[in-house]
Amino acid sequence: MKTIIEPFRIKVVEPIRMTTQDERRELISKAGYNPFRLRAEHVLIDLLTDSGTGAMSTHQWAGVMEGDESYAGAKSFFRFDAAVRGIFGHTHVIPTHQGRASERLLCRAVVKAGDVIPGNTHFDTTRANIEDARGEALDIPVPEARDPEDLSPFKGNIDLDRLHHVLATVGRERVPFVLITVTNNSGGGQPVSMANLRATRELCDHYEVPLVLDAARFAENAYFIKLREEGYADKTPREIAREMFSYSDGALMSMKKDAFGNIGGVVSINSDAWAEKVRTLLILTEGFVTYGGLAGRDLEALAIGIDEILDEDYLKYRIASTAYVGAHLHACGVPLLRPFGGHAIYLNGRRFCEHLTDEQLPGWSLSAALYEHTGVRACEIGNVMFGRPDPADGKWRWPALDLVRLAIPRRVYTQSHMDYVIEGIDELHRKRKRIPGLRFTHRPAVLPHFTATFEPITR
Ligand code: F0G
Repeated sequence: MKTIIEPFRIKVVEPIRMTTQDERRELISKAGYNPFRLRAEHVLIDLLTDSGTGAMSTHQWAGVMEGDESYAGAKSFFRFDAAVRGIFGHTHVIPTHQGRASERLLCRAVVKAGDVIPGNTHFDTTRANIEDARGEALDIPVPEARDPEDLSPFKGNIDLDRLHHVLATVGRERVPFVLITVTNNSGGGQPVSMANLRATRELCDHYEVPLVLDAARFAENAYFIKLREEGYADKTPREIAREMFSYSDGALMSMKKDAFGNIGGVVSINSDAWAEKVRTLLILTEGFVTYGGLAGRDLEALAIGIDEILDEDYLKYRIASTAYVGAHLHACGVPLLRPFGGHAIYLNGRRFCEHLTDEQLPGWSLSAALYEHTGVRACEIGNVMFGRPDPADGKWRWPALDLVRLAIPRRVYTQSHMDYVIEGIDELHRKRKRIPGLRFTHRPAVLPHFTATFEPITR
């Protein structure tokens, strides 16, 4: 059989409310043309993020009832510890409430002013936490990562020549660790190859610098290795994940992605000295070392989720169902980032809205029009998120890519939901020249995309 089906059936349903295009025109206008400012109940299919939006399994919900809410030494912590350790293999497993808490704790513990943290591409909260500790977050992806049409299989890889150069010139005193994000979310959900991880490990060994993984989507990365890298076709996702982590000295993870959690994170590290510092900070802001800001029931659900995510039938369906959306949109001539990522499809905003200039915010205008036309909510990762006026001359500087991300929540939407998304985007693409450009009416200086407001330039 060629058809790949959802490897689950549905036991509980959450109704979604239909809206008309006239209603949505009004709603997006009232929201200042910012999809983040919409009420979720007015969204038909929510592709804003795959973070914390997944559906838990019957097994996870049963685990919720088993949650041990003891303040210290809860049974649920030991289940969590064993589940994470069984995959990551590090000495210390420290729970946190989500990924950015893990980032903050590790950065506060080990990053000094003037330090450099090289990586394939840091996620925005990771970058913010490194910068908050007055370090430099240095993105050195392979050159093909910058070309949205390049079909290389591992566009998430770090550029080894540039990493070598950084380690040789900056030196281990000022590089507390190298951070590789699997898969590379900011670079389009692209995987990192085992060969690249192994070579990074060798360089790190040579310069005596620890290697840390941002493991938010480690299972999707493992499955891409199985599909695309020689020698891995017969290995299980768990074996591949274990090998990936074997090259690392530690990992940070937002467990809202590849652990099927609605909340949760972890710092997993080998160094006793780092663990001591992280645990001290954890107690200050998150909670005691055996719960880290989570309830016992969350720890229980995460322990089960991180095990379930490595199920081969699930990963096969996950990667195929994301590619299904990409392949159909590509066949309709919609400009996309390729190869397709694991958790999301990225529309190329500038090419979709060729009639708009960068100042007219093509990707953002597309995301607002997409909501109005279809009720689908997506997230711009482009001119609004990263563009800023240069302090020297006041001229706007725009990022290399102006993308609109359709992030697909785990186990939530069916193929007919995705057919609706594909049809809606195809229709919008046919009348793309009518998508009005937008301009800011309010632009906060920090992380503007969350709260900025806009108005149409022409209508
Ligand atoms: N690292 C990566 C690679 C991420 O994608 C995220 C979050 C984080 C760290 C931070 O984790 O949200 O649990 O604090 N990404 C979400 C997204 C928000 O929509 O891509 P968090």
